[in-house]
Parts: sequence; structure tokens; C-alpha cells
Amino acid sequence: MPDTRGSIHGQWSSRFVFILAAVGSAVGLGNIWKFPYITGENGGGAFVVVYLVCIALIGVPIMMAEILIGRRGRRSPINTMRALVAEEKAHPAWRWLGWLGVVTGFLILSYYSVVAGWALAYVFRAGAGLFTGADAGAVSTLFGALLDSPESMLAWHTIFMVMTMAVVARGVRGGLERAVTLLMPALFVLLVILVFYALYEGDFARGAAFLFSPDFDKVFQHCEVEAGVKSCRFSGEPLLIALGHAFFTLSLGMGAIMVYGSYMPGNASIARATLTIVVADTVAALLAGLAIFPIVFANGLEPASGPGLIFQTLPIAFGAMTGGHLFGTLFFVLLVFAAWTSAISLIEPAVAWLVENRGMARVPAALAVGATAWVLGIGSVLSFNLWSGESFQLFGKTWFDLIDYLTANILLPLGGLLIALFAGWVMSRASSCSELRMGDGVGYRTWRFLVRYVSPWLVVIVFLNAIGLI
Ligand code: PHE
Repeated sequence: MPDTRGSIHGQWSSRFVFILAAVGSAVGLGNIWKFPYITGENGGGAFVVVYLVCIALIGVPIMMAEILIGRRGRRSPINTMRALVAEEKAHPAWRWLGWLGVVTGFLILSYYSVVAGWALAYVFRAGAGLFTGADAGAVSTLFGALLDSPESMLAWHTIFMVMTMAVVARGVRGGLERAVTLLMPALFVLLVILVFYALYEGDFARGAAFLFSPDFDKVFQHCEVEAGVKSCRFSGEPLLIALGHAFFTLSLGMGAIMVYGSYMPGNASIARATLTIVVADTVAALLAGLAIFPIVFANGLEPASGPGLIFQTLPIAFGAMTGGHLFGTLFFVLLVFAAWTSAISLIEPAVAWLVENRGMARVPAALAVGATAWVLGIGSVLSFNLWSGESFQLFGKTWFDLIDYLTANILLPLGGLLIALFAGWVMSRASSCSELRMGDGVGYRTWRFLVRYVSPWLVVIVFLNAIGLI
């Protein structure tokens, strides 16, 4: 039986801090950068509906599963899986689940840090007043100049990675906890201010309609015109993207939430914490959408313009609004903070493992992990300039796109599926019921039903559909 009293790495000082830390992990570039741009690329409302269904039916039960596994194991995900495999007398192959998560974390952080680097660069651009009065053309030239320069992108990527390593090196209480308590509330306030700006100055009606009125045909019909004849077929790709994003935005499927769960006080309710985290994350994404799309439409911009979307829309808003100089700077500062509190959770599983198994101190462990992700990130830096050509692409994608696709749409759902199967089928009913601390009532039974039958099947169906098997 693993030690259920505490982790050797320390513990969050309260249940509330655990929630803040998990919200810090969940709310990040996924909400403010990725959600708007993939919604734009996938046609809007219907995509949002599918995403919300995935959050409710897959995200909530799997987050509970991940936290419960972490808190029961009280170690890094790799050792937690080891301990639980022994405790539940499960097949030893389950131990690989911890490793899968660590690898996924490295890959995500490698490109995440590059995008966070853009946000860092934008703090200084906004601060220097470069957006004041800028129109769509000027703003997009500015973004293009950043992407064209591998040196400056590498520099920002490096700075962000150093920031991440610095926090993780200081440990659970001194580093992680302090960072999140200050930053998360400020980000929400600023998002609300931006939504008000969009309400008064943007094309709010069109933006909101784009987000909330679902047109399923537009999203799922893939039409081609061949020899003057238009033929349409159902395409499941947006389903997979919505599913993958549900995992990405909730930080599920790679052990980040698991390791945070291992630092959770023993008596706190996992179900209640999960609901708070999920609601906060979803609200953050919808607020970001409501801030961005009205500006997109009011300025004749293209919603499907890809990863550059927020860097080409928000500066226009800031450039035109009173106080935009200040708010713009503040916004990018908070975006960096949101990314920062997520990035630390991406490497915490690997760092905790190095401390446990290699006897390393946190500082060298954080350095080793950060340096590895930094090297991998160079591929993402170059994807926008030197390696953007077709000869550098694989499956028609740049390195950056490939890593993003592989992690969000394949590795995270796969990790999440395995976590659901482990918690639902491998762990005994007695273990999961006692760890969730909610009694054997309707709540527990609903969770168990979802995690055994609903979430795994939905993930499998979406997968098979996307690869064309069904
Ligand atoms: N949830 C984070 C975001 O939305 C990204 C993340 C994914 C963090 C996986 C940790 C683990 O930005």
C-alpha cells in the first residue's frame, strides 16, 4: 500500500491551492491561443458544441480518474503507476503509461515554449506602443517579421524555458504554489475587460453567432468540386480535433494533473475540485472566443488564419482602444503567466521522477528536463522560417504542426483512454471508491459508469473514425 499521507515532494497548502494550481495548468495557451484558432479553422459553432460534449462526457470523468490515481500513488506518475500496478496486481505493461506521459510532456513543452515566446515578444511590442493605431496590415507585417527571424524566436523560446525551469526548480510550495495564486485571478479580470471591448467596438453579434450557432453541415461536410460536379462526404477530422483539444485544454492524458493530484491534501473532494477546474477552464476559453471573433469580423479578418490568429487580431483592438497601450501590455503579460503556470505542469512529472529515482536535487532535475525540451523546440522555431519549405515537411505538416497534431490528437487521447481503463477496469471498486471519498452513491456510480463505458468508447470511436476505419 503506497503512503497515502503525503508525497516526498511536499503538498499544496490547501484544497484551494490545489484547485488554483490545476486551473493554472489547465488555463493556458490552449484556451486563449489554440481554442480560438482551431474553432476558426473548423467552422465555429458546431465545433464548439462537440468540444463541450467532449469536455463533459470525457474530460470530467477522466480528470477525476487522473487525480484519484495521482493521490493514491503519491509519487511521480511513473512511480505511481508502478505502485498501483503492484497494489492492484495488474499487468506490468501498465507501468508504461507513466512513461508515455513523460514523453508527451516533453513534446508538448517543446512547441508550447515557442508560442509562449511569441507572447513574451508581444509584451515588449505592446509596451513599446507598436500597436497604437495599427491596422490589420501593419499588425500582420509585425507578426510576420517575428516568424521570419529564427534568432529572435529562439531567444524568446530560451527565455521562456529558463523561466519554467526556475519555478520548477524551487519546488511545490516555493515555486509552483506562489506563481499560481497571484496570476490566475488577474487573467480572468483582463479577459472580461477584453470581452467588453469586443462588445462595444467589435462585431459582437457576428462573433457570438460564429461561436454559438452550430451549423453541423459546414463543419462536418467535406466538399470537393471535380469536373464541375460537387460531391460532399462526412469528415470526422473536426471530431478528433475537438476531442484532442478537450484533453489538451484540461491538461489530461499525460500525468500533469496526476502529479498535481499526488500533492493534493488527502481529505479534499476530487469531484468538487474537478468541476471547479473544468468550469474555470471552459469559461476562460469561451471568454477568449468572445473577445477575439468580434474583432476578427469587425476588421474583415479571416477566422481560419491559423496559429497567428490572436497575434493578428488582439493588437488591432489594443491599438484602437483607450488605454490600449496599458491593457495590451498587461494582456500579454498575463498570457505569458497563463502559459507559464501550464508549462511548469508539463515538466513536473519528469522532474519528480528524476528526484525520486535518480536521487537528483530539484535544480539539476529541472535543468535536465528543460534543456531536453528546449532542444526539441528548435525544430518548432525553424518550422516558421528555415524549415517551412515543403522539403522539410512530413505528411504535409511542418515539425511544429506535426508535434502539435501528434501530441494533442493522438498521444493525449491515448493516454487519457488508458487512464480511464486503468481507473475503471483495473483498479478495484474498493480502491477507487475510497480514494474519491464520495461514498458509494449516485455520484460515484455515475462516474464509474462514465469512466468504464462512455469515455473510453467515445475516444475509440472518434479515433477509428478519423483514421477512416468507421
Ligand atoms: N492545458 C494547457 C493549456 O490549455 C496545456 C497543457 C497540456 C498543460 C497538457 C499540461 C498538460 O494551455
